[in-house]
Amino acid sequence: MTDENEGSRIVPMRLQKFLARAGVASRRGSENLMTAGRVCVNGTVVTELGSKVDPRVDVVTVDGMQVHLADGSVTLMLYKPAGVITTMSDPHGRPTVADLVPYDRYPGLFPIGRLDFDTTGLLLFSTDGELGNGLLHPRRHVDKTYEAILDGVMSEDDAARLREGVLLDDGMTLPAKVELIDVSRGRSRVAITIHEGRKRQVRRMCSFVGHPVIELHRKSFGPLELRGLEVGAWRMLDAEEVAALRRAAGL
Ligand code: URA
Repeated sequence: MTDENEGSRIVPMRLQKFLARAGVASRRGSENLMTAGRVCVNGTVVTELGSKVDPRVDVVTVDGMQVHLADGSVTLMLYKPAGVITTMSDPHGRPTVADLVPYDRYPGLFPIGRLDFDTTGLLLFSTDGELGNGLLHPRRHVDKTYEAILDGVMSEDDAARLREGVLLDDGMTLPAKVELIDVSRGRSRVAITIHEGRKRQVRRMCSFVGHPVIELHRKSFGPLELRGLEVGAWRMLDAEEVAALRRAAGL
């Protein structure tokens, strides 16, 4: 049998190459995952480095999570930590999100939108410009849900003002969803869902009603929630997640 690519046809390829192409880790890193017993093919742990898989039929998992071969474009989610700028390069040498995602393997990766330096949570990246533009287009109104710790005790009246929309220096905000989760020791924990992506929007909205943000964390973006990632870690989206994002982007 011939090895790997014949023209554009994908035929059995070495497992470590499959893992690297799927964006799991570098070829060497993938070999380490295999020898550590973290990779299964069709439910069986595979540690032998010469093993081959057929991406059309074999189910490959790493730590129990299924891995899919990237089909040209790559889309992933990062659990952005605080203290990192959402840019792929910084002339002042500050830590950027580019240090956290596999930019060297996928040089076209760009962040879909931005989170402030101190904001944590779900940040999407893609090499697919159409997807990124669709998700960020103001007309699409893709939901973004944040959990925030606010200074002071937020009243139901304040929450109602945010729900209706408030006048910021760049215009009225669209109606938002606001849920008061907990109030204790002079602080309020709230969940806020907005449909726009204006600069520092949640911080400005909360300050407007007298409750500056102390901590801000993005829990979800459109159909996707941040789950199963350590702070600073990323994972490839699977085909279903990408399809859901494409729908949200109107593609
Ligand atoms: N709104 C903000 O104020 N900051 C963010 O990082 C994201 C949304």
